[in-house]
Amino acid sequence: MTANATTPPLPGLDRVLSIEIARVTEAAAIASAEWRGRGDKNSADGAAVKAMREELAKVNIKGRVVIGEGEMDEAPMLYIGEELGTGHGPEVDIAVDPLEGTTICAEAEPNSLAVIAIAERGGLLNAPDMYMDKIAIGPGYPDNLINIDAPVVDNLRKLAKAKGVGIERITVCMLGRPRHEELLRQVRACGASVRLIRDGDIAGVIWTTDPMKSGIDMYLGSGGAPEGVLAAAALRCIGGQMQGRLKPDKGAEGQAQIARAHAMGITDIRRVYTMEEMASGDSIFSATGVTDGSLLDGVHFRGDFAETETVVMRARTGTVRRIKTTFRMLPAKARV
Ligand code: FBP
Repeated sequence: MTANATTPPLPGLDRVLSIEIARVTEAAAIASAEWRGRGDKNSADGAAVKAMREELAKVNIKGRVVIGEGEMDEAPMLYIGEELGTGHGPEVDIAVDPLEGTTICAEAEPNSLAVIAIAERGGLLNAPDMYMDKIAIGPGYPDNLINIDAPVVDNLRKLAKAKGVGIERITVCMLGRPRHEELLRQVRACGASVRLIRDGDIAGVIWTTDPMKSGIDMYLGSGGAPEGVLAAAALRCIGGQMQGRLKPDKGAEGQAQIARAHAMGITDIRRVYTMEEMASGDSIFSATGVTDGSLLDGVHFRGDFAETETVVMRARTGTVRRIKTTFRMLPAKARV
């Protein structure tokens, strides 16, 4: 239905933006897929960044990067504060992770993604590049079931009870990192099983939304704060619960991170953010697979064609689309 004099436009972002945003991650995924397995994560990331920026420049938005490749003086493209889009259209905030899982892409391992979220202005937490402690579960459970401050055993017990199973039937996903040694021990001591992943905790959080398929019931542990906000934006569209708290490093680096967080408007570094506080208002999230994974197929090159798989979702409606696209790979000069 089109808006006319008697039908005012629907609140939130124009739904046409969903397909525009899917194009952005498709382009980034194809560009970085050329670098799969070449052992050069910087080139893979650089290709994704460049493609994402070129595609974003064509979208009818007044966009401002709030989560990007770094501060203006450290990133030539997609830096925090960069204005993108045609300048015509809604004012939106943009969070990007052009290549989530740079190392896994460089080593052609599963689950690297190109990721973006856009939201109505002010709708995304401006999270600095530092760690965030995270806990997440999928949809269908009673409100406020999880609590990042509660002992692990309490969260696992509550989840198992709400699911109607014993704790031994619960699987927790976390990044395999030395910093998670104690958490891992505690989860296993409770009887739950653990899927350790090498990288890619945005996918780790999204897996909790479909435990039947993914086998994952809960995401736990610390990873990038920017990835935390992107995961929250995705979870808000599908449904689920998530909490995050910034986790500065120790020493001078940590002090610098806290100062950066203050400069970005975060006054209480110990604050626990709910999913809705990390991503509010209407937002659209899109991810395209770079390497094959259990969330999405990666890019497949077949002759002159490239095939991609994308999941694009919108918070206001909760619509989740999976899009398989075939691109004819035109020589660069012929592309418009
Ligand atoms: P990159 O894409 O920057 O390589 O990040 C991958 C990732 O695994 C994220 O998914 C995660 O949030 C973060 O790294 C964890 O950081 P660290 O590797 O320092 O534990």
